[in-house]
Amino acid sequence: MLNFEFWNPTKILFGKGQIASISREIPAGTRVLVTYGGGSIRSNGVYDQVMAALKHCAVLEFGGIQPNPEYRTLMEAVRLARAEKAEFLLAVGGGSVLDGTKFIAAAIPFEGEPWDIVEKGAEVKSAVPLGSVLTLPATGSEANPYAVISRSERGEKLAFSSRHVYPKFSVLDPETTFTLPPRQVANGIVDAYVHVMEQYLTFPAHAELNDRFAESILSTLIETGPKTLADPKDYDARATFVWTATMALNGLIGCGVPQDWATHMIGHELTALYGIDHARTLAVVAPHLYRVMKRDKAAKLLQYGERVWGIREGTEEERIEAAIRRTEEFFESLGVPTRLARYEGVKPETPKLVAERLEKRGMAKLGERGAVGPAAVEEILARSLAA
Ligand code: NZQ
Ligand code: ZN
Repeated sequence: MLNFEFWNPTKILFGKGQIASISREIPAGTRVLVTYGGGSIRSNGVYDQVMAALKHCAVLEFGGIQPNPEYRTLMEAVRLARAEKAEFLLAVGGGSVLDGTKFIAAAIPFEGEPWDIVEKGAEVKSAVPLGSVLTLPATGSEANPYAVISRSERGEKLAFSSRHVYPKFSVLDPETTFTLPPRQVANGIVDAYVHVMEQYLTFPAHAELNDRFAESILSTLIETGPKTLADPKDYDARATFVWTATMALNGLIGCGVPQDWATHMIGHELTALYGIDHARTLAVVAPHLYRVMKRDKAAKLLQYGERVWGIREGTEEERIEAAIRRTEEFFESLGVPTRLARYEGVKPETPKLVAERLEKRGMAKLGERGAVGPAAVEEILARSLAA
């Protein structure tokens, strides 16, 4: 097992009616800026519940944070928060609203150009405290220090991380997610699944407990995903899914193990270039990456196949291929394509282009061993585009 530090300060308020608990978490009279997206929270009653829980505070609002949150929009919120002296930010929505709010929180006290936080990795020395009400299980943003911000006029989508932007608390009420369209639920299942794979499908590190944690999350997603997609109002299935997605990327399963994240880095480029939903980029990259990198990942692919999919028959080569194929079939069964060829407007030169873009950003050695270089990136995307 590798050395690790584990610290996750986010308080989780889980279950029906928990939005009301916010009133206990934020002191009376606090100047709270509530941030949200394109309006889903207004039509499903979440907005009203949040406002009722904030009666004791001075409330400001900023709506319109788009999926793949845009720097220019977020900077409008930064100006508002600075002018109004916001003391606490409450993000209400999916991963995009939460990520965007983390950026706002870090940008408010930042001296200089806040884009440097994502582009140059400028140090975040402090942030305005934030909390969240999560309405879309997928990213894990509700209990982690990460955020991914887009600047579409420059074709960029970049991540940052800071311990200062862990939410102080996150409300996870599964009922707030009942209004999600099936596409977003399917995306969430795939995103959470790939988060686990990025921290699991590498090479053995004698981290037995972590492996079992990861496998249990994958098995739970395979079991509960289709159920919660078919019956969005089945509370118990949805509650299981919500908690599973949080556990997939809150730092726990990543303790003491090598991590990959190449699928995510390649996927972010596809979103930046073509606007493909985050989870959908992962589904068109991951299976092909597993095939291209199967020598490096062989031991874990075999373990994954056996423990998660029950694959015990055949040669090693056959079992590895069967494990990858089952993964593809699972994503496809949720309605999430595993071939880039299925998206219109993707240029034939994309594999080379993405490899070059990553190289330019200093990401020419991705993966758990730094072995996913430009040639591998090209091959992964060429396979996905050809299939
Ligand atoms: O904007 P509104 O009107 O709220 O609609 C949203 C949006 O259109 C809608 N939605 C959310 N909750 C709803 C709802 N519709 C009906 N009922 C509800 N309860 O869903 C749409 C998509 O929302 P978005 O927040 O974009 O989706 P998601 O949660 O999948 O977030 C994706 C973003 O998170 C980043 C991705 O790159 C992408 O930008 N990620 C963040 C990570 C992190 N912070 O750790 C890790 C991930 O790997 C990922 O990169
Ligand atoms: Zn993701």
